[in-house]
Amino acid sequence: MPTVLLGQSIIPLPNSVTKASGKLVLQNLDVLFEPGQEIKHDDGVTSHFENKFGSLNTVLSSQVKVNRIEEQVQNNAEAYELKIEPKQITMRGDKAGLFYAQQSLQQLLFNGGGKLDCQTIIDAPRFAWRGMHLDVSRHFFSVDFIKKYIDILAMHKMNTFHWHLTDDQGWRIEIKKYPKLTQIASQRKETMVGKNFNPYVGDGVPHGGFYTQEQIKEVVAYAKERFVTVVPEIEMPGHSVAALSAYPQYSCNQKPLQARTTWGVSEDVYCSKDETFTFLFNILDEVMELFPSKYIHIGGDEAPKTRWKSCQQCQGNIKKHGLKDEHELQSYFIKKIDAYLTSKGRYTIGWDEILEGGLAPNAAVMSWRGEAGGIAAAKLNHKVVMSPGSHCYFDHYQGNKKTEPLAIGGYTPLKKTYSYEPIPAALSKDAASYILGAQGNVWTEYMSTPEQVMYMALPRLSALSEVLWSGKDQRNYQNFVGRLIPHLQLLKLQRINYSTALFDVMSKPSFKNGQLAISLFSDLPAYTIRYTTDGTKPTAMSKRYSQAVKITAPTNLQAALFSNGRKMGNVLSEKYLSHLATAKKVELQFPPKKQYSTGGANTLLDGIQGTLPWSGNEWLGWRGKEHMAATVDLGSNQKLSKIKISFLQAPESWIYLPQDVSVMIKGSNGKYKSYTLNKWDNDFTLEGNINTTGRYIKIDAYPMNKIPEGMAGAGQAAWLFCSEIIVE
Ligand code: ACM
Ligand code: ZN
Repeated sequence: MPTVLLGQSIIPLPNSVTKASGKLVLQNLDVLFEPGQEIKHDDGVTSHFENKFGSLNTVLSSQVKVNRIEEQVQNNAEAYELKIEPKQITMRGDKAGLFYAQQSLQQLLFNGGGKLDCQTIIDAPRFAWRGMHLDVSRHFFSVDFIKKYIDILAMHKMNTFHWHLTDDQGWRIEIKKYPKLTQIASQRKETMVGKNFNPYVGDGVPHGGFYTQEQIKEVVAYAKERFVTVVPEIEMPGHSVAALSAYPQYSCNQKPLQARTTWGVSEDVYCSKDETFTFLFNILDEVMELFPSKYIHIGGDEAPKTRWKSCQQCQGNIKKHGLKDEHELQSYFIKKIDAYLTSKGRYTIGWDEILEGGLAPNAAVMSWRGEAGGIAAAKLNHKVVMSPGSHCYFDHYQGNKKTEPLAIGGYTPLKKTYSYEPIPAALSKDAASYILGAQGNVWTEYMSTPEQVMYMALPRLSALSEVLWSGKDQRNYQNFVGRLIPHLQLLKLQRINYSTALFDVMSKPSFKNGQLAISLFSDLPAYTIRYTTDGTKPTAMSKRYSQAVKITAPTNLQAALFSNGRKMGNVLSEKYLSHLATAKKVELQFPPKKQYSTGGANTLLDGIQGTLPWSGNEWLGWRGKEHMAATVDLGSNQKLSKIKISFLQAPESWIYLPQDVSVMIKGSNGKYKSYTLNKWDNDFTLEGNINTTGRYIKIDAYPMNKIPEGMAGAGQAAWLFCSEIIVE
């Protein structure tokens, strides 16, 4: 078993814990933590939480003296001290601090089973913005669920809820001045089934919903009681198709639109004409009335310039305001909104695209396309919230995609989130002070139920809470995981769904002397891994893993984690190919882009052919001028009959087949000769017969440099993804 720090299992880890001798023992804790009690979904965890808090206070006050002392400690409204003595508990802090002391106490009580070690905890957060986002446009969630989500944030001492209220697929906030936003824009005809983009398959089920202004006030007040600030997001100029379906007069071509039923980026955006600003200012007036937050999020991401290029009014604006191009027009758009918010005493925050064409004077940047945007903004002395896809996108897969529910793509396991450092090394101390914190994003394209949202958010949210609260030097993944196991029990007791990917077995190939061997491991080294290679599911009787498994023929390797004979997580099942190039040497002239580089060049010869739905770890990705230029060295001259190259097509992620592929083989005569692969299989494998003898195979595959009109990501550079070069 990992070390479970009983009585000290708080997530996020407190800054300082000083143990004293003795214990405080409470009776009747079973009233509080009563396992097996069925809680109907509609009752919500919220009321459960509240009842439990109520009874916690009752149990405490009947048995020990609880001193709640309201005063600022450490000059920080969120700091607290929690002192546990045999007959009394003292909490000291400002209002928020006292609330956090209570969260810590609740976790201690649960994990200690009612017995508390005497101790003093002194604690304060590292970052001011400890955020979670939720997209309620792609799927709508009830007020009850939103409250539950806020409870989970508060339990983890997170203090910012970024509410993504509008997007192409639905407008979710009542605006009294524009009733069609709720009558029309809040509804879509249906939703795409799975990833059936092309050919499109819809579910035929209308989807809609919105929050009334009364409900929004209720949520904001509920959050405030839990020291959570709600930051609303109203998307512009892109991701606005739903709004334009109700008010097409604010688009460039005024053509009728419907809320979208698929995902991705639409070319239909707001027009930059004056009337649009009147519309948006009026909306923002009502938004500011409802949300007292300092920051108002105005989106700004993924706004194609196609419509603006052919719009007389937008082109007129470019001329009139001396702008260079449509990127500066986007900047003009955001600056106008920023000036308006500033005039009302608020601050703009937007996705990192708002840097393009010049950042508005007061705007804060939310860095999502990696950290570059955040770094650039901090260097310009603008406030930054970090939310890079690599660590903070909780819509990505968190485990093996074959056993995980369908997700948008990517691969962001718990450990990766936990490893996140919000202050980029590239920043000076001064520039680093502009990093407010970080945030986890939950985009709900592939999450249609509250249970699925929780599953994707947890336990990555728990990991991020520690990144944002605890000291940088205190963080230790194994220690975290030890505390997480009882923490998951606390979630379970409250009927909060979470992923168990933590209990999965993972694999890592090694390539010694041209031999492929697979190491198996998990995040929980104290548990036992058992595996099979005969196609059967592993059981408690299967072979115990002790050293890397050599692959010498096509093999189905299956493995799972066991604790006391009980299978813990999902079964890992990998099919390894074994071909002439497996585990041989491969060199890349240009490295793949960092976010799609897991496993490095060897990924191309690791015996695994990527499959759909794709997740980031099976593929290498290139984009732009640096193409895939791979040279395989088979070690000696070999008789070759066939080459197959496994590419990927996933247009919704701007991943397209290469625009050109060339293959050269250095024959036994020492000269390179060109070969043509010309057969595309259904699974995007390009293959061809070659019939020659050779040792070196040079493959150049070029990404499409500009995605054509009418295709997802039109005008952008396409991604090229490759998973395996198969040589027979
Ligand atoms: C984003 O993920 N489009 C901000
Ligand atoms: Zn226009």
